[in-house]
Amino acid sequence: MSTVRTGVTVRVPAKVNVQLAVGAARPDGFHDLANVFLAVGLYDEVTAAPADELRVTCSGPDAGQVPLDRTNLAARAALALAERYGIDPAVHLHIAKDIPVAGGMAGGSADGAAALVACDALWGTGASRDELLAICAELGSDVPFSLVGGAALGTGRGEKLTPIEVGGTFHWVFAVADGGLSTPAVYGEFDRLTAGTEVPEPTASPALLAALRSGDPGALAGALSNDLQPAALSLRPSLAETLAAGTEAGAPAALVSGSGPTTAFLVPDAETAEKVAAALLTSGTCRNARVAASPAPGAHVI
Ligand code: C5P
Repeated sequence: MSTVRTGVTVRVPAKVNVQLAVGAARPDGFHDLANVFLAVGLYDEVTAAPADELRVTCSGPDAGQVPLDRTNLAARAALALAERYGIDPAVHLHIAKDIPVAGGMAGGSADGAAALVACDALWGTGASRDELLAICAELGSDVPFSLVGGAALGTGRGEKLTPIEVGGTFHWVFAVADGGLSTPAVYGEFDRLTAGTEVPEPTASPALLAALRSGDPGALAGALSNDLQPAALSLRPSLAETLAAGTEAGAPAALVSGSGPTTAFLVPDAETAEKVAAALLTSGTCRNARVAASPAPGAHVI
């Protein structure tokens, strides 16, 4: 008996930046980074199935905020792979969305990486890992990390990855804000806030890398940093209240996730995570609070 494969589903994680060191704006407008990515266990699932033409649909509580046209990174990933292999991109991509939209958790990048892996499997292109990573880097600075998962240092604009060893499980609470923040706007605000100052070369913190290796949440709590946080807070001052609410509820460390507006709270264990999430929900300073553990695997067929 043979099985006919009608669709391929890929699960892909969100990320939090445990260090985001940002350099001065480059001539191409991007910023050189020392970006320490950690994949966390909040997942989108992208299913690729044969169709008459390229089509994107999305389900989930925030599906209405997801663009379904060719600006969607999942659509762009399918088009890029099809073009490279001379394939007709007649595919239906369905995104089951659980990662906060425009939240600084790489949800759009995750869908791009997942669609690439799903279409590669559906079409049997047999692309190498390096070819897939090169397409990811063309799609966006955070897309390669969504493919590899785990933990990695991203240099350049964040797309050049070096894997990082993680010695244990870290527990997080994510406070989801009302509405998103535009990544270019946050980088623009960073430029405005740092104008006229000497912006140092971004480098990975040895203390942070040691904390990840040790798996010790106390050590990691003391080493978290995000150079985009002042810019995100400048554009969305109410995030300071969310950060304070999580800290008051017992989270040893709080920071803005990437370009925000999601805020991330590192806690010692799963029990504290539930307690802090409940307190954040009742604080009225966020729209939702989610718990998740890290690291998580990168985009993979399920
Ligand atoms: O690479 P991606 O398309 O995700 O980047 C979105 C925007 O974020 C860029 O257009 C740029 O404004 C900003 N960005 C940046 N430096 C980076 C990554 C992103 O300035 N390293």
